Amino acid sequence: MRTHLPPFFFFFFFFFFLSTLSQQGEGGGEPAGYGYNLLSVDVEPSGNSLTAKLEVINTSSVYGPDIQNLILLARFETPDRLRVKITDADQPRWEVPNQVIPRDNLHQQQQQQQQESRPAAAASYVLSDPGSDLFLTLYNTTPFTFAISRRTQVLFKTPAPPGIVFKDQYLEISTSLLGAGGNNQSSIYGLGEHTKRSFRLNPDTMSLWNSDIAAATLDLSLYGSHPFYMDVRPGGITHGVLLLSSNGMDVVYNGSGITYKVLGGILDLYLFAGPSPVEVMEQYTQLIGRPAPMPYWAFGFHQCRYGYKNVTDLEFVVDNYAKAGIPLEVMWTDIDYMDAFKDFTLDPLNFPADRMEAFVDRLHSKNQKYVLILDPGISVNKTYATFLRGLSDGIYIQRNGTNYLGKVWPGDVYFPDFLHPNASSFWLGEISTFRKTLPVDGLWIDMNEISNFITSPPLNQLDDPPYKIQRSVLDRTVPPSSLHYGNITEYNAHNLYGFLEAKATHDALIKDTGKRPFVLSRSTFVGSGKYTAHWTGDNAATWDDLEYSIPSILNSGLFGIPMVGADICGFGSNTTEELCRRWIQLGAFYPFARDHSDKSSVRQELYVWESVARSAKKALGLRYRLLPYFYTLMYEAHVKGTPIARPLFFSFPRDAEALGISTQFLVGNGVMVSPVLQQGAVSVEAYFPGGRWFNLFNYSENVVAAAPGKYVALDAPEDSINVHIRGGNVLIMQEGAMTTRAARKTAFELLVAFDGAGSATGEVFLDDGDVVEMAGEDLSQWSLVKFTSSFQGGRPTVKGEVVNGTYASANNFKVKKMTFLGVEMQAAGKMAAMSINTDAAEKKAAVTISCRGERFGVVEVNGLSQ
Ligand code: GLC
Repeated sequence: MRTHLPPFFFFFFFFFFLSTLSQQGEGGGEPAGYGYNLLSVDVEPSGNSLTAKLEVINTSSVYGPDIQNLILLARFETPDRLRVKITDADQPRWEVPNQVIPRDNLHQQQQQQQQESRPAAAASYVLSDPGSDLFLTLYNTTPFTFAISRRTQVLFKTPAPPGIVFKDQYLEISTSLLGAGGNNQSSIYGLGEHTKRSFRLNPDTMSLWNSDIAAATLDLSLYGSHPFYMDVRPGGITHGVLLLSSNGMDVVYNGSGITYKVLGGILDLYLFAGPSPVEVMEQYTQLIGRPAPMPYWAFGFHQCRYGYKNVTDLEFVVDNYAKAGIPLEVMWTDIDYMDAFKDFTLDPLNFPADRMEAFVDRLHSKNQKYVLILDPGISVNKTYATFLRGLSDGIYIQRNGTNYLGKVWPGDVYFPDFLHPNASSFWLGEISTFRKTLPVDGLWIDMNEISNFITSPPLNQLDDPPYKIQRSVLDRTVPPSSLHYGNITEYNAHNLYGFLEAKATHDALIKDTGKRPFVLSRSTFVGSGKYTAHWTGDNAATWDDLEYSIPSILNSGLFGIPMVGADICGFGSNTTEELCRRWIQLGAFYPFARDHSDKSSVRQELYVWESVARSAKKALGLRYRLLPYFYTLMYEAHVKGTPIARPLFFSFPRDAEALGISTQFLVGNGVMVSPVLQQGAVSVEAYFPGGRWFNLFNYSENVVAAAPGKYVALDAPEDSINVHIRGGNVLIMQEGAMTTRAARKTAFELLVAFDGAGSATGEVFLDDGDVVEMAGEDLSQWSLVKFTSSFQGGRPTVKGEVVNGTYASANNFKVKKMTFLGVEMQAAGKMAAMSINTDAAEKKAAVTISCRGERFGVVEVNGLSQ
């Protein structure tokens, strides 16, 4: 029988303790079996960590011999973050390098402070922290198990047997979840990258091994690896779990538990206490790194295609956007621009340097931007300068004593080894030399899983491990037996390639441009968000793929990569007018909005069909008016890790229905997007969590939902998408324009949507849009302005306050117009909208405004108007 600690125990003891709880350990009656026993437990005298020694019980040769002695190090790294690290006690093993996720060296810290080993005599040991809700219990059972709990609820618990399995090429650890069924169950999110119809995970085995597999395929291991999940329990109480490993793995989720089957490395487990989803994201990104800020222009609309024929074709597209009156911020070019698919070259016939320079100059003169693709494979070609420089720098990945020869678009290639200390200077050199010819504004790094068109025969057990994860580790990639600098095997580092390339590209762009970089990477790993944006890969032009785009985007946000989008109108196969129209209606609200298509599919620029163009102007028109809001969400993501596109439950964690919604999402806290996802549909059944919701297009088709929420059938005629703002929010908007630069020059407008209690808040982040640091130490470069508004006694009041920085006052930030939604008009007896032009208010710090002849509001925009 297990003895539980009474909850008051934790409330009354403010210091670390290590104690014996019961003489009778759980599982004590089980026959000695597989797994590990606790040998000793040591505690750091000052508090929050412990070290335990473990010894294998009965060995098994399945998947290789067991590692005899393990060491378990546990530590509260912050009150909200508990780390449990288990590794070989006698030999160092592969761990995710500190250059990827900088973190404490528990061994060193604990060795310095360690007391004498104490044989594990007690039935269980508890580690807690005075500031934390969490505690860890080690059970001295046969085999040993452990649990991480919050007060009376167990959050992570290894089962007995086997507890854990630890071999050279096979590690296993499991946890049970709250699995009572119905609403009394853990809702699990994350564990990607996979395309799924549902954002909330259904039972499945998921491989994490970065692979070039089309995103249009459900449930397969795709481009990135993120062994992180969020567990939302009844009442919205949430925690997060990261198993920090770059090794290939299967993660088996069966509804009531999760088992990780990992191909190597160590077990490095982090539990993030939450208890809200937003707090979990803050705690998770505190460890893995906060998302990189994106330049303001990146929130404009992007056009790309694989198969643009020549410069004339590019010019044609740019001109047609202008003619159609559809905003185009960024023009892209795929591998077509290259000479024989060689990075950093231009096809002399179709994309000659002089024409390309003139093209980019013209884009820049119109305040538009240009982004090009790069692939990691460097063509093996003795007349190719980039190849030769890489060769003399010795920075290519090796196998069997020589540079590994793969095949991608150019034919034979070598791959730069971004773990090599000289690789980043090689990459920077190539980028800056190329940018002297063509000053591109951002870079798109593709095929970096690494994708290889050939599968090399296996060389050793690294290429053919005893346990086979669902995705073959050898198939169409650089073989796991290949070597990086310092004899690091591709087997261990495979999942890091995209991360490392993104870091090198991001750093190179900063060095070369002096501006905030924009990088888009297909392959990602834990922490990639601090360097790159992401798109969801090769989807297809189908209605299913339109729907899958929502869970995929929400997942990327959960993984700390908030700047994300899916290829609008679909990448593979031919889109249709109706699909493309519905897709731009939705895609206009992706954080990253790019239309991209495959060369074998029909053209799908937004002007191609008149009805698509009309929808694009309408949906992108609202997006551009919301640019200050998107950009402020970027700031929030950068300082707190909160995603830009969020699942409904982030704002409504206690609403059980919201936990299962995958067909709608929130932009930020208060803007809800409810798209049409079915062919032929002209209405949509949308879920509204409790509150007042105002249609952002027309301010009139509003919904009032009593808590917790309700489904509403919304009209969705062919040229419209439903976007609602929830009462309680102030949106800071500007006017639409053809470029973000032009939009930024227009007047600000406040849209105040009152909640039932007559209040609303909002904020706006202001800077020049491409200074390298966002919200950096130089307070003259930025401002955060907060607005609070209330509607009391028939009078709306708005207060604006510059809470940080001096950028706003220096740049004479002004609000020209305010619109109030949810103002109860006595005559109409229902919610209504009012607008005020605040021109008269500009010159004063506080003004009284009249509306319809009545005195009705006081506006104070403190520190904003001179
Ligand atoms: C990959 C990319 C795709 C790109 C193509 C050609 O399939 O995912 O976006 O267009 O390669 O470079």
